Amino acid sequence: MNVLGLETSCDETSAAVVRDGATILSNRISSQIELHKPYGGVVPELASRNHLQLIETIVADAVQQAGLGFAEIDAVAATYGPGLASSLLIGLHAGKGLALSLGKPFVAINHMEAHLYSPLLSSAGVPFPLVALIVSGGHTILAHSTGIGRHEILGQTVDDAAGEAFDKVAKLLGLSYPGGPEIDRLAQQGNPAAIAFPRSMLDDHSHNFSFSGLKTAVMYYLRKNDAYRLEDVCASFQEAVVDVLVGKTVRAAEERRVQTVAMAGGVSINRRLREKLGAAGRPRGWRLLLAAPDLCADNAAMIAALAYHKLRSSAPTDWAVDVAPSVGLV
Ligand code: KG4
Ligand code: ZN
Repeated sequence: MNVLGLETSCDETSAAVVRDGATILSNRISSQIELHKPYGGVVPELASRNHLQLIETIVADAVQQAGLGFAEIDAVAATYGPGLASSLLIGLHAGKGLALSLGKPFVAINHMEAHLYSPLLSSAGVPFPLVALIVSGGHTILAHSTGIGRHEILGQTVDDAAGEAFDKVAKLLGLSYPGGPEIDRLAQQGNPAAIAFPRSMLDDHSHNFSFSGLKTAVMYYLRKNDAYRLEDVCASFQEAVVDVLVGKTVRAAEERRVQTVAMAGGVSINRRLREKLGAAGRPRGWRLLLAAPDLCADNAAMIAALAYHKLRSSAPTDWAVDVAPSVGLV
């Protein structure tokens, strides 16, 4: 079954064709990073206008790159939430319109569940049960998953998301948007033990996260210290985020007695995070599932792949489905 997926929840316009939930035939992604860079963050009005301009071409490219015609598309899927309302509307309605005109079923997909599914896309066999860490610009979620659509949220951030913390600290340091890749790059030349930034909530017994105190700690450090090594601040900040993410994931996996751990979302590209999660998993014998870099950030392949599994287990989505900007993972 060839599923055409659409993703426009934030600042990426993406369309992809995935066969049988596993073989990516195309995954066309147009990033708006340059458009939003001057503003230091995503401007919703600009984002939706850009999606509207691009969606038709991106969809046509995705179908063509898959080596197919529209007649060979068996179902259409699009993200309905969470995300920016005006951006979600573009993809959701384009997807519904396409499905209607092709006479094919339509599936509305939860963006966070698709992120969770992205590292599973290329894994052989069914890897459930597992603990998943989803770390993106808008979310930080630890979940226990026992199947497609069967997720329990163990914890999430009580304030800033991990990616948001990277972006805000990068801004304090005068680095460009998005801050995660910049900090990741500079941290490679820095000393992660140079500054002892707080590991908020690491030792409490919840699975929740808090990153706004860490951001404030960096702000005070910069105010008090005229001369600092940028690379050391980046490495020390990153280390604090990574220690909390890894520490909490280890505790959740041990508590739930799972042997499979998956990590997804834009922040999961982070080199230090991959390194330390890998090091934590090795002695415990985990099967660690990580998505390829182009599947970590927002993309439509994860939408199309998940839609295939949804269609196998449930009916297509009702045409009346609307965007849900604040919907959670469950
Ligand atoms: O999943 P994503 O592409 O979009 C959302 O759904 O939010 O995540 C974007 C976030 C941004 O905050 C960005 O700074 C962060 O992922 N990010 C990184 C890295 N690459 C992207 N954070 C840390 N290290 C990276 N290498
Ligand atoms: Zn995302």
